[in-house]
Amino acid sequence: MKISERLKTISKYIIPNSITADIGTDHGYLIKYLLDENKIKKGFACDLNKKPLAYAERNLSEYINSGKAELRLGSGLRPLKKEDNIQCVVIAGMGGKLMAEILEDSKDYLQNLTRIILAPNVNWERVREYVTNNGWKIIDEDLVLEDNKFYPVIIFEKGESKKLTKGELFFGPLLIQKKHSLLDKFIEFEKNKLLKNISRMEKSKNPETKAAIEKQLENWEEMSRCFNES
Ligand SMILES: C[S@@+](CC[C@H](N)C(=O)[O-])C[C@H]1O[C@@H](n2cnc3c(N)ncnc32)[C@H](O)[C@@H]1O
Repeated sequence: MKISERLKTISKYIIPNSITADIGTDHGYLIKYLLDENKIKKGFACDLNKKPLAYAERNLSEYINSGKAELRLGSGLRPLKKEDNIQCVVIAGMGGKLMAEILEDSKDYLQNLTRIILAPNVNWERVREYVTNNGWKIIDEDLVLEDNKFYPVIIFEKGESKKLTKGELFFGPLLIQKKHSLLDKFIEFEKNKLLKNISRMEKSKNPETKAAIEKQLENWEEMSRCFNES
């Protein structure tokens, strides 16, 4: 099965031969790929909505029949049980704020896990901040460029994290440390986004605009300090 570069990158970080749950699985593509490639022992395809789970059911039918895949309907990690013996949880394709809410909602359940893999599509700084402040540390990171959008892939395991700076929260401490091949492109992309936003703001006649622009520039300055320190 052909899957997106983003999902393929995520698959590289799954604990080999583990029992893995994909939260917000949609069509179940990640779990199907992991099982097709013999990368996991068993997969749980979980979604809040019935329609995506129906697609997942169709795509995973063979594995469901053989007991290698299960579908679970519900929000976040709520439909998972301790007895499922899940070691690895993936949440991808949602915003960082929602991911942090999902994890907060299942704080106790998280203690059963070995690894959490998150691939947010926006607000990744929120998720880095939440997870590293709650007993997990980043053990690896990757970055994917797909359809002109950047997606960080962040891998967490239990442990104490150092306090991350604003720049590290946004750009990724390990992406910076290992000088990821896409990092310069990512920085340029975000800088252009900021400049476009500022030029749009400058056209408005709102008296508060000047202060808002200054704040955005200060924020960028502060974030950029992480490159001088690395
Ligand atoms: C954009 S899709 C992402 C699909 C896949 N994970 C990916 O990265 O390509 C988001 C999926 O998350 C599901 N979803 C949204 N909120 C959720 C929640 N609180 N718990 C579980 N699934 C949720 C949606 O129904 C949808 O199928």
